[in-house]
Amino acid sequence: NSASDSGIGARGLWSSKFAFILAATGSAVGLGNVWKFPYVTGENGGGAFVLVYLLCIFIIGIPIMMAEVFIGRNGRHNPITSFRLVAERNLASSGWRISAIVGMLAAFIILSFYSVIGGWAASYVGHAAMGDFTGGTAESVGEMFGGLLASPAKLLLWHTVFMALVVLVVARGLKGGLERAVTILMPALFILLLMVVGYATTTGHFGEAVSFLFNPDFSALTVNGVLVALGHAFFTLSLGMAIMMAYGSYLSRDVSIGRTAVAVAIMDTVVALLAGLAIFPVVFANGLEAGAGPGLIFQTLPLAFGNMPMGTLFGTLFFVLLLFAAWTSGISLLEPVVEWVEEKTSFARVGSAVIAGGACWLLGIASILSLNVWADVAPLGMFAAFEGKTIFDLLDYFTANIMLPLSGLLTAIFVGWFVAKESLKSDLALQEGTFGLWYNLIRFVTPIAVAIVFVYNLLA
Ligand code: PHE
Ligand code: NA
Repeated sequence: NSASDSGIGARGLWSSKFAFILAATGSAVGLGNVWKFPYVTGENGGGAFVLVYLLCIFIIGIPIMMAEVFIGRNGRHNPITSFRLVAERNLASSGWRISAIVGMLAAFIILSFYSVIGGWAASYVGHAAMGDFTGGTAESVGEMFGGLLASPAKLLLWHTVFMALVVLVVARGLKGGLERAVTILMPALFILLLMVVGYATTTGHFGEAVSFLFNPDFSALTVNGVLVALGHAFFTLSLGMAIMMAYGSYLSRDVSIGRTAVAVAIMDTVVALLAGLAIFPVVFANGLEAGAGPGLIFQTLPLAFGNMPMGTLFGTLFFVLLLFAAWTSGISLLEPVVEWVEEKTSFARVGSAVIAGGACWLLGIASILSLNVWADVAPLGMFAAFEGKTIFDLLDYFTANIMLPLSGLLTAIFVGWFVAKESLKSDLALQEGTFGLWYNLIRFVTPIAVAIVFVYNLLA
């Protein structure tokens, strides 16, 4: 099989299957696990939501991840070119590459505001380490967060720091950049998480958190909760953004796509559950609201850390963890775009990374201003559905609710219905029965489920 890998010489490959798993897990594990999963679980009643979410990971997330990695490895180019090549090989229309175009555009847009939020994490590492949370009140932590959001200068500084960290790694290429970063950051992240969970067990409210996460109360589950679970399964595995295609393009032919995808999904889920076990005991111990929403991490937790023994130490560890998680995800958002610029222009790796990262940084400024100076600017305010939505809100809305599901849906349909079954079979390298299960999922279940969420989101 190495014959088919020989043509890729100059692009390079991950040095091992584990490097790929770490990088893909690094992409998957992010703000979605540490920030979003705990609060959507809190908002949707806990255990029953977690069960539905796990189901979505298995019937939608993992099948699409396999399809994306397949396209990347089969095409061995940037996501758009890979898609075209796979289509041509299967005598399908090269127009299917619209899926990768939408995905890459989404990655570019998402990175622009993901970097702003990554910047919040970076700034909170500083606050935590300086002991700024100590003795804090609801009012003081609220002011700290409000003060950050109200200041374009502070936000710009931290957005710039975060984007620079991302560009720095991507510019150094696959082995010296991405691979090296994830082999340091991912184990560090895991250890930090275990330390914070260990700390959470000392709060006296660990059992409460366990039952909150694992005792399903189906009466608390709503239709909307099911759709949120489905959408989150997509986001948390970094699907619909051409990321797994880009990462798959560097994957050796000897590796089973099926088994690695399952490993990545399991690690992502374990981290999300551990994050829940790290956060909820602290929330309950302080009588905080589990369904506090997006502010949970930046407002409620600092309050808790500020009033607990060793809160400065564990608060700092927590925000370093958050920063590392966001960093490896940011890297993965830039990679497909850089791979594309590198192949399509005469710029080398470094130039491509600086150009793509710089453009993203520039777009990020619009999100920064949306939080303060442009807080009342609603560009699509003339449509009732977008009333009061800032530029930041709109970028988030269009990527999460339209671009990602659209890209994922097209990928599922293309791979399920237009790619030769034999080529899928040999590339995924699954056992006969497992392959049959995946094939039915990607042809029927996955597209229908994604289409339902897509339409629902459009109407809602
Ligand atoms: N999967 C990441 C998370 O759970 C989010 C993300 C989305 C990362 C898109 C990269 C790209 O936070
Ligand atoms: Na995730």
